[in-house]
Amino acid sequence: MKILVATSKPFAPAAVEGIKKVLEDAGHELVLVEKGTKDDMIAAIKDCAGLIVRSDIVDKQVMDAAPQLKVVVRAGAGYDNIDLAQATQHGLCVMNTPGQNSNAVAELVFGMLVTLIRNRYNGKSGTELKDKTLGIHAYGQVGRNVARIAKGFDMKVSALDPWVSDEKMIADGVTPVHDLKELYRNNQYVSLHIPATDETRHSVGKELFELMPHDGVLVNAARKEVIDEQSLDQALADRDDLRYVADVKPDIADQLVEKYGDRVFFTPKKMGAQTAEANINAGLAAAHQVVAFLKDGTNRFQVNK
Ligand code: 3PG
Repeated sequence: MKILVATSKPFAPAAVEGIKKVLEDAGHELVLVEKGTKDDMIAAIKDCAGLIVRSDIVDKQVMDAAPQLKVVVRAGAGYDNIDLAQATQHGLCVMNTPGQNSNAVAELVFGMLVTLIRNRYNGKSGTELKDKTLGIHAYGQVGRNVARIAKGFDMKVSALDPWVSDEKMIADGVTPVHDLKELYRNNQYVSLHIPATDETRHSVGKELFELMPHDGVLVNAARKEVIDEQSLDQALADRDDLRYVADVKPDIADQLVEKYGDRVFFTPKKMGAQTAEANINAGLAAAHQVVAFLKDGTNRFQVNK
């Protein structure tokens, strides 16, 4: 069967080779559309049984163009780019590959933080992370890797996640927090790891940001949609000690850079999961999941149950 890998942000070549081998060993054929548009995906998908994407949009238009499609795997964690209701209506199984790229995203959190607090290496004296407080907003796979790395920096780490037990956090050396305001109020650094859902969309803005202590830094390697951008802008205007860094560029990024200069920092492209290791881990996991589903319906990690 034909399996389409459609990635506007391509995997590392080694990951593509690995995916090809996994698919071919199972008797499938890889169709590769890299750096393509949605129209390119639509043109390539018409006789494909499987689809592997990253943040690429998979909506009704794509699904309508794919009469033979059975399975979609998002090579990564967040699946807000896939219309799950439509997928279910189309009889598709949608899966993600949880945890496969989380270390890469977590490492970039610290890359961005160090870049910010060392003044982008401009010669001016900066600050250190050691002994500073870090609050992790959602303690999933990325949040846990952030905690592990933060402990290497000797930071004091706490986390909030209603789905994770206190025992788990305590075992990781992380202080559990049950009140969102408390998380923001008590930590100089807050790292956001909530998924973009109807509940979380625009849920972080001025109200939480302005609770942060003096010199507070909010770091977002999750999704731009979870931020209320206008209210974030207002908080940065109200308090000139607050800073915001993100791997997911706000829609108003240019405006924020113009107004707040070095107090904001955005990667030019979403780079969190863009490492060879993460591409190989997530890409190969996705390929194995497609193969297993087409073989016997294995649907571990299905997200549209
Ligand atoms: C994810 O949800 O897995 C990360 O945000 C990485 O997304 P990407 O594959 O689009 O880089």
